[in-house]
Amino acid sequence: MKYLLRISLLSFVLMLGAACSGDRPSTVGTDAQVEARVNKLLSKMTLSEKIGQMNQISAGGAVTDYAEAVRSGQVGSILNEVDPVKLNALQRMAVEESRLGIPLLVGRDVIHGFHTVFPIPLGLAATFDPALVEEGARVAAVEATALGVRWTFSPMLDIARDPRWGRIAEGNGEDPYLDARMAEAMVYGYQGRQADSTSMAACVKHFVGYGAAEGGRDYNSTYLTERQLRNVYLPPFEAAVKAGAMTLMTSFNDNDGVPSTGNSFVVKDVLRGEWGFDGFVVTDWNSMGEMINHGFGVDRKDVAEKAVNAGVDMDMMTYGFLSHLEELVRSGAVKEKTIDNAVRNILRVKVLLGLFENPYVDVAAGKAVQYAPEHLEAARKTAEESAILLKNNGVLPLKEGVRILVTGPMADAPYDQLGTWSFDGEKSHTITPLKALEARFPGKVDYVPGLRYSREKRNGFADVAAAARRADVVLAFLGEEAILSGEAHSLADLNLQGSQSELLAALKATGKPVVATVIAGRPLTIERDLPNVEALLYSFHPGTMGGPALANILFGDVNPSGKTPITFLRTVGQAPMYYSHNMTGRPYNGETLIDNIPLEAAQTSLGNTSYYLDYGASPLFPFGYGLSYTSFSYSEVGLDKSSYKADDTLKVTFTLTNTGSCDGTEVAQIYIRDMVGSITRPVKELKAFERVSLKSGESRTLTVEIPVEELAFVGLDGVKKVEPGDFQVWVAGDSASGVPVLFNVF
Ligand code: BGC
Repeated sequence: MKYLLRISLLSFVLMLGAACSGDRPSTVGTDAQVEARVNKLLSKMTLSEKIGQMNQISAGGAVTDYAEAVRSGQVGSILNEVDPVKLNALQRMAVEESRLGIPLLVGRDVIHGFHTVFPIPLGLAATFDPALVEEGARVAAVEATALGVRWTFSPMLDIARDPRWGRIAEGNGEDPYLDARMAEAMVYGYQGRQADSTSMAACVKHFVGYGAAEGGRDYNSTYLTERQLRNVYLPPFEAAVKAGAMTLMTSFNDNDGVPSTGNSFVVKDVLRGEWGFDGFVVTDWNSMGEMINHGFGVDRKDVAEKAVNAGVDMDMMTYGFLSHLEELVRSGAVKEKTIDNAVRNILRVKVLLGLFENPYVDVAAGKAVQYAPEHLEAARKTAEESAILLKNNGVLPLKEGVRILVTGPMADAPYDQLGTWSFDGEKSHTITPLKALEARFPGKVDYVPGLRYSREKRNGFADVAAAARRADVVLAFLGEEAILSGEAHSLADLNLQGSQSELLAALKATGKPVVATVIAGRPLTIERDLPNVEALLYSFHPGTMGGPALANILFGDVNPSGKTPITFLRTVGQAPMYYSHNMTGRPYNGETLIDNIPLEAAQTSLGNTSYYLDYGASPLFPFGYGLSYTSFSYSEVGLDKSSYKADDTLKVTFTLTNTGSCDGTEVAQIYIRDMVGSITRPVKELKAFERVSLKSGESRTLTVEIPVEELAFVGLDGVKKVEPGDFQVWVAGDSASGVPVLFNVF
């Protein structure tokens, strides 16, 4: 076993080694011992008990409501119950009162923290700091497992390139490389580098393509080719599986006509066949039943057959397996071997989590670890690293002693600040920006909200303007309520909602400097608001400790270092737009825009390139963008060689200098373009990044190693490999900067 020791920020001593498909923790025995235990149990089970393990129900009512089903072995897992007293009672029924004593696996959507809420996943991705994200996931696992939750439906790895899609908030953005690094971090964090009683099984979701819903409308169809799947959408899932993710969830969408829950190509061939996944596959909530709505099956029996034969192991809330599998096995439509394999996959996870040894929790001790000071500290640090400075005319950082007016609907919105899909965080524990500023400057903060919530419409802001005139600087906290992003919360208009833009315009008219902090679940189209502010800080819903984190940045205790994990559009009509698009035959060259077209222009093509007449081809802010209170310069970008073999490693060297007047951290990004391929290739792709902290004036020369095999892709012949030829590499602070260096692979 190859264990690497490291000590994290929270002083957890963690061990490297994947809990499921990698090295086994010694407590549960070797792979062979685990399999022997699983098989022994399986050999004692009736068909009905086996099918019971494949059934997940939503609890949350009185324990007695589920008693009969649990005692008779009809339930393998429950979700939506987090009361540890009830969970202990339910576990007791399963362990002490059912025939075989198999513990329940308790699942929950612990998406960005349990009680201590961290920034939404899009905000986590903005940190470009996998180690910190791992620590956050560990905190979530420590809190959730202490109260009996041993399985989280996270991380969500859906690549999302259309901000109209509300669930963009729940994922890591548009880029497969960043997504894959975050995926590994979250899997390690939830499961622990070595399984123990704080290990919470990860569930990577939604498999696959869910984020590519047509028009950004949730649940809509996707049309991803196998090559797109393999080159863009599948790699983050593969990274999570390689990191040891114990479970995986199929998605709601149909891809090219095949709903994921009935797609044996992705589940059986790719996930199990190619990647060797030995965890279990659960459906999304009733996604089996929804195959009837899709018109992919006539009734529950039909879709249950299709799902199980496609490789699905557990049914979340359709009751299709429970109601029909026995009959399907008897008729021969489903082989008992298929059921046995599914049950093995489920039992294996239960054994690996140590559930048989430790089914109960100590309720008092569990409650005591919630919101522990070190958890809140980790949440604060993460919210700090995740905030992105998008504009600064020099007004930030603010000086202590200035008279501030705090305004805007997100200044004191303790619930909304927690963001989407946060079930267990309590607003009573949230510290808002207003509360943090009042604590910092007791009695000195003037607060006039202007708008009570983000969608509110109002005519005139005389009260706010009057207060602004009394202040030296206005801090406007704007954005989206939590409910405007997340599942089923797609939007067709991405401007600031309600009268928020009018509020900014009224503030601008006072002549006072306005600093906007946008707190939202997606990249909003804020172009029209930028001229009205001297500075703009963007914070994807930052969680419990968002207030102190943002105050620390605004007043310069912390220098912002977040970078956009997603392209910020100028207008919603540009969606989808992402940096790593393929090179077209007519790349944009900055030609004629709408105002330059002469009257009665000849009917010729204008510019002849790929762009919008009215908005050109550039976004508002590119992927990877973010300012600092200091400035950085890149120089001496070079490679150790100009020509490489496919099994070599590139050594990319560059010098990074902090050219400004304060200390800071830069996320150095390395992008590579494959100039010619058997298929057209992206204009550039992120292949590495590194967070580098430098003192004012300090220079450091860094070398980043990238194995040439990282340049492999699935080309015309369907085989993943590096194709020889010329490549370009950039090292820069965002995806739109830098000067390329050429190299060759032979
Ligand atoms: C969502 C999943 C979630 C599940 C259980 C579904 O509606 O799509 O992401 O894990 O519910 O709450």
